[in-house]
Amino acid sequence: MTADRLVFDAADESETSLLGTALAESLPDGTVVALCGTLGAGKTRLVQAIAEASGVDRRDVVSPTFVLVHEYRGRRTIHHVDAYRLRDESEFLDLGVEEYFEDEGLTLIEWADRVEGCLPADRIEIDIEITGPDSRQFAIVARGEGYARVIEDCRRRLQQ
Ligand SMILES: Nc1ncnc2c1ncn2[C@@H]1O[C@H](COP(=O)(O)OP(=O)(O)O)[C@@H](O)[C@H]1O
Ligand SMILES: [Mg+2]
Repeated sequence: MTADRLVFDAADESETSLLGTALAESLPDGTVVALCGTLGAGKTRLVQAIAEASGVDRRDVVSPTFVLVHEYRGRRTIHHVDAYRLRDESEFLDLGVEEYFEDEGLTLIEWADRVEGCLPADRIEIDIEITGPDSRQFAIVARGEGYARVIEDCRRRLQQ
């Protein structure tokens, strides 16, 4: 396994919450996280876990499929974007995402593969596979310099 890639098998939702906590603690301010995986994979569920670990009430976190973007204020701001319904990348940019990329909050993007050309070169990518009714596999990759350390940090927190 290379240093900038982490594969985490969650046996159930509580383990997905553990991953969310480890990510909330290891992602630096301003990180953009690209979430990929089929419908029902757990993209929204992982955002809930990260938000909850950041001091946001989990019930406030719902899929932004219709409004496209939500903002949660916990210990830091979380921008939650869903690209599922966007027709093209210009609609994504119209949401003002480049402003989010610049600010110190986290930006978590569901269906990020649909807007890949607009994403910053430095980002964390998380691919989610459904491995069973309650189990999911999360493949976490660091893109760009500087984020390899985040993967190591996250791995260390998960092992504790
Ligand atoms: N280990 C797990 N991690 C995340 N979600 C899980 C897990 N096991 C079961 N689920 C269920 O899978 C579904 C994931 O839905 P959701 O997060 O909305 O998916 P997406 O946003 O990728 O379409 C939820 O109903 C959740 O309860
Ligand atoms: Mg979703």
